[in-house]
Amino acid sequence: MTSRVIPVPSFVLVVFGATGDLARRKLLPAMFQRDIAGQLPEAATIIGVARGHLSGMDFIALARRAIEEHVPAAERTAAAVERFLARLRYVAADATDDAGWDELTALLETFKSRVNVFYLATGPALFGPICERLGRHGLAHCNARVVVEKPVGRDSTSAAAVNDAIGRVFPEERIYRIDHYLGKETVQNLLALRFANALFEPLWNAAHIDHVQITVAESLGVEGRAGYYDTAGALRDMVQNHILQLLCLVAMEPPARLDANTVRDEKLKVLHALKPIGDALSAYNVVRGQYRAGASAGGPVPGYLDELGAQASTTETFVALRAEIRNWRWAGVPFYLRTGKRLAARVSDIVITFRPVPHSVFDASAGPILANKLIIRLQPDEGMKLWLMTKDPGPGGMRLRSVPLDMSFATAFGVRNPDAYERLVLDVVRGNQTLFMRRDEVEAAWAWIDPILDAWEQSPEPPKPYTAGTWGPSAAIALIERDGRTWEDGGA
Ligand code: BG6
Repeated sequence: MTSRVIPVPSFVLVVFGATGDLARRKLLPAMFQRDIAGQLPEAATIIGVARGHLSGMDFIALARRAIEEHVPAAERTAAAVERFLARLRYVAADATDDAGWDELTALLETFKSRVNVFYLATGPALFGPICERLGRHGLAHCNARVVVEKPVGRDSTSAAAVNDAIGRVFPEERIYRIDHYLGKETVQNLLALRFANALFEPLWNAAHIDHVQITVAESLGVEGRAGYYDTAGALRDMVQNHILQLLCLVAMEPPARLDANTVRDEKLKVLHALKPIGDALSAYNVVRGQYRAGASAGGPVPGYLDELGAQASTTETFVALRAEIRNWRWAGVPFYLRTGKRLAARVSDIVITFRPVPHSVFDASAGPILANKLIIRLQPDEGMKLWLMTKDPGPGGMRLRSVPLDMSFATAFGVRNPDAYERLVLDVVRGNQTLFMRRDEVEAAWAWIDPILDAWEQSPEPPKPYTAGTWGPSAAIALIERDGRTWEDGGA
């Protein structure tokens, strides 16, 4: 099986926040991978921008370490690393004052005819100031695009302010709001599954689907990001963007074409159709949790407050919700959503459970008939399983057994699964916005999240504790079991 490399136009990628975690863990390794795949044009250049007064050589050393740490040794050669590092430049500039901007402007003068990608790998508070300076220095010209990381704001009001600030400088068609979940291979495959097969779409509705579960579970804690995380929490960090985007792709109507605005129009309709959560303090609808010390990967791990180095915090590291979509296709079908840190495993799944057969023709001795289930595994071990009822082989009468049709992408395709950032950064260069969030989508997602945040803020009740290495607070298990259903992993 081969992968196809489609050339992209010549570009310069300017990364603000170039010495930070995202640049080191994701952006530099992603661009390196595309370089070894032969996809970067000869002249492609990457300019790192950060406040620190590094020399060009210091930045190259930092990039070299990033590649050595985040690209497996078997996937790189010394020559490839040197060729990639030769593409890098560094400029020390401050987002909030003029230092360094003349140097950056002069450097970019030579690249004006290429695609200029400004990647803001910084906190959202800097998106406005950086864009404003890009505009003032004549860098937001028609070949320039801006990429912003999530979170865009921390509620509807602040998101609107951030979007206004970016929008004063760049038109919407040149703003790329990244949600890296949309770049994941299996998430793309969800589109192929739904719209390139005739099999599922006729069944993809409330008449045939009992419920949907979306789980994004992480086994890691907040690691070195406690400072940011404590101001966000799981609802803002994961649900407002990644999980709602997954829900949109599962629930949207078939778009007429796969172009950016047609797809985003359909996703937006889903967000608008989300039923307001109602009483966010009722454990019937929402459960928030925070991990205490426990065990993960066989060893003891500290609780959230210890990782944060604080006495108290009401930030949730876990959230489970019961969502509903008010339209003809989905009326009455619950979507159970759940995400958390320091859970029992790192696993992200979308589970579609179909309705039971209307009538059993089998004797009780055949055993129960379990509902069909389609499990789309986003990570790890990307793949799909379709659970079907079959006859247990051999004599002994008709006994039924549930078995999966199991497709592992690694086995089926035998190619390396590219990281989401590899695809997404090059989509920006290609000018393809399909996998990026439009302003109205971000704001519609916040509009659904805001009342939950407000209710929590007013409430004296703290998040429910759970032990690190488990599946979250027991109330999250009750949230689904109350409806006579169960989380896919058993959840106990
Ligand atoms: C990020 C969140 O957007 O996604 C992190 O800010 C989270 O808190 C990460 O750990 C998960 O991404 P992935 O690709 O590892 O599932």
